[in-house]
Amino acid sequence: MVETKQSADHEHLPAKLGTEFITRFYRLLKGTAIYDRKNVIIDRLTQECLQVINDILRSEGTLFLKIVRDNFFLNNIRIPVKVDKYAILKGFWQEMRRRWIGELEFLTTVNGEQLKNIIYLLSGLEENNESNYLYVKKQLENQHIDVFDIGKLEFFRDEEIYVDSEDQKNFSKEVYFKSIDLVKEVVENIHQQKALNIRKAKRLMQNAVNAILQDESTLLGLANIKNYDEYTFNHSVNVAIYAIALGQRIGIPKRHLSHLGMAGLFHDIGKTRIPKEILNKTGKLSLEEWGMMRSHPIVGTEIIMRMKEWGGLSTRMIDAAFEHHLKYDLTGYPKLTRKRRITLFGRIVTVADFYDALVRPRVYNRFPYVSEKILGIMLDRSGKDFDPALVKVFINMIGIFPLGTLVLLNTNEMGIVVQIQEDAELIDRPKVCLLYYSDGEYRKGRVVDLREMDESKKDFKRSIIKTLDPNEYNMNVAEFVI
Ligand SMILES: [Fe+2]
Ligand SMILES: [Fe+2]
Repeated sequence: MVETKQSADHEHLPAKLGTEFITRFYRLLKGTAIYDRKNVIIDRLTQECLQVINDILRSEGTLFLKIVRDNFFLNNIRIPVKVDKYAILKGFWQEMRRRWIGELEFLTTVNGEQLKNIIYLLSGLEENNESNYLYVKKQLENQHIDVFDIGKLEFFRDEEIYVDSEDQKNFSKEVYFKSIDLVKEVVENIHQQKALNIRKAKRLMQNAVNAILQDESTLLGLANIKNYDEYTFNHSVNVAIYAIALGQRIGIPKRHLSHLGMAGLFHDIGKTRIPKEILNKTGKLSLEEWGMMRSHPIVGTEIIMRMKEWGGLSTRMIDAAFEHHLKYDLTGYPKLTRKRRITLFGRIVTVADFYDALVRPRVYNRFPYVSEKILGIMLDRSGKDFDPALVKVFINMIGIFPLGTLVLLNTNEMGIVVQIQEDAELIDRPKVCLLYYSDGEYRKGRVVDLREMDESKKDFKRSIIKTLDPNEYNMNVAEFVI
């Protein structure tokens, strides 16, 4: 649980900007009822509104305003209502409700003419017509405006928005499993050569970023649990999560974090072209099969280049797809004819990918590596395979005993790591949920803090002796952590 300054800022920023956006947008909307679009006042109001829209896009990457019941959410974070703004927010809410509009989304920066078109479209809508949003969509299409989208007001659906801390875990879980579904969908679409839903992917990664900023532990916990069935899809999502969490810790701005997530999510997209038999082969690969496996960074790059829909994002995604097996000292693959420096995104995804690939027992390695061993390997290969600075930060993030690790304590108790200490010095002293055995299964006991000292005050009360394999104990770690 990382409650840092950052997360506080992130809550603060959208709140203020959100109120500002609504205020100016509402003013402009009201202006349209009085003035025509050539009026100077409309010009001024449009400019004022543009400014805040583009500010939000610059700092947040997206502007997605959603109404749920009588609350506004900006990029899925609720906008708190200040007393002095209550009348404005309420007024805007009524205007939107009257038109059955519940979502406004600016996808990229807009210009004055586009904004005027949008606002006059909204202003002219009929009252109480549930399909207003469809009409607007159609009109936008006719006018070739693709920088803006609109959605219907939904009175009883708010599943994508969780703000209370008790809902945070559910939000994280949902992001995780939705991301897995999305990766599946993308892979299928590639096989069938269908278009991809880029916006959905972007939105999901935005949500993943929010979830990680607010509560890192749940998503990292989900990524660390190793007993899911569908390795390939989980792997992509895990790499995205590790990459975002790592990026966050080294101070990559929020608007770039979701791009990093996308880069992580699709780093192995080239594998969609490799036959399943080779991908899942447990025996030794032939020379030819190895060649095929090793072609996936180049194939991935080609696939991404062909997907025009990604727009400006594609360069970052190509970096990750192309570079994630190159290694820090460029001794990996594909072989380069000209030396280049690996990009930051490439270096981050390399670390995330390596860790997640080894932590899993499937496919690549028949024996599950425990996390401390992998982190040891990474430390060992730091400067050769990996960026040394990133390895350090990554190890601190994962902890020697990551969330969900089953451990044996010197008191002969068994437990599951449920929280990592923030202090890097205490990385081997996480909080552990003790387990007890009754009625044929392991059950949750109390949570103990391994920092706790014994009576003599000279020694720790409990210490980890070793990690255990949950499969040997027939245990589903997920149930204990989530
Ligand atoms: Fe790969
Ligand atoms: Fe990978």
